[in-house]
Amino acid sequence: MFELSQPLERETIRINSVNRSVEILDQRALPHCVAVLSLQNEEQACEAIRSMAVRGAPLIGITGAAAMALACSKDSSNKALNEAAERVKSARPTAVNLAWAVDKVLQALLSLPASQREAAAWDSAESILEQERRMSLKIGKYALGIIEALYRKLGRPVRLLTHCNAGALATVGPGTATAGFYAAHQKGIPIEVYADETRPRLQGAMTAWELCSCGVPVSLIADNAGGHLMREGLIDAVFVGADRIAANGDTANKIGTYLKALSAADNNIPFYVAAPVSTFDASLKDGSGIPIEERSGDEIRRVYGADENGLPASVFITSRSQKVMNPGFDVTPSRLITAFVTDQGVFAANELEEIWKDGKDAEQ
Ligand code: MRU
Repeated sequence: MFELSQPLERETIRINSVNRSVEILDQRALPHCVAVLSLQNEEQACEAIRSMAVRGAPLIGITGAAAMALACSKDSSNKALNEAAERVKSARPTAVNLAWAVDKVLQALLSLPASQREAAAWDSAESILEQERRMSLKIGKYALGIIEALYRKLGRPVRLLTHCNAGALATVGPGTATAGFYAAHQKGIPIEVYADETRPRLQGAMTAWELCSCGVPVSLIADNAGGHLMREGLIDAVFVGADRIAANGDTANKIGTYLKALSAADNNIPFYVAAPVSTFDASLKDGSGIPIEERSGDEIRRVYGADENGLPASVFITSRSQKVMNPGFDVTPSRLITAFVTDQGVFAANELEEIWKDGKDAEQ
């Protein structure tokens, strides 16, 4: 059987339950500089999430679980753990993976005597990391089926568009939207990827970087180019990730996803959302209740890159007082989504109940 392997040389996060340490790949300097940060306490872990040193829904969740383990090492009382959980969950609002992971650790701890909690917190954080890795690999397996079928039908390289970074950098393992790309490439199915640059944080440049470093053919395109490519017949399918999926399939993902979905629908191009069960929020009946993160105006006023030494740098492209608006995410209505590629299989929006039936954590 085909086995998909881990694409990145350096893990996005390492949690060691034996020596109780957490290390992250600092994504703020990528792709210019590969720096590793050690997180010493819950505050540093929350700051890593807030500042986007770690980012991408599954990775935010894993880091949240690590933050709980760090908090528990300091104080394992019910009061301290409940307060830590609230603080960690508020670090970023849109990706539900954060609350999912934090609540999972909290529930595991509150049922235990205080003397057993610290070890259990670290085990729980490590096991959430491993669960995300398995889910990412399974998404790759199901997405591969879709890409392989396209290849058989078209008889030429399959041309795929993605938005933001829902890649290996956004989780552990081969990503969500990109998991099928890595799987296809490793299996020898020819693909061509187009990665939207994704203003304002330009996560598309990271998608291009990680795919490129694994030999997957990829072109970085300006955000506004996607519609043109679709109309020109240059895109066979769109795969994006997700930060929160409501019960009816409405999906929050990086700002700009909705426009790509509209364009795909207008051009009869299949539009897939790839996400693990940790991204589903059945408590919301539709996307209207999904909180949309409003980020700093400076992300719009400036463009971020690197200086000649490869160190992070930015320049203003507006006056310093320019009024701006910076919603980090948008919601794509489920009617524009062809299918959800999950770790439990491929589902249409009206089949999503299948995922809840056996409990959200049921691994297959
Ligand atoms: O603001 P970010 O970089 O955390 O946003 C990332 C995205 O929107 C991704 O597409 C999403 O989290 C899916 S990650 C597998």
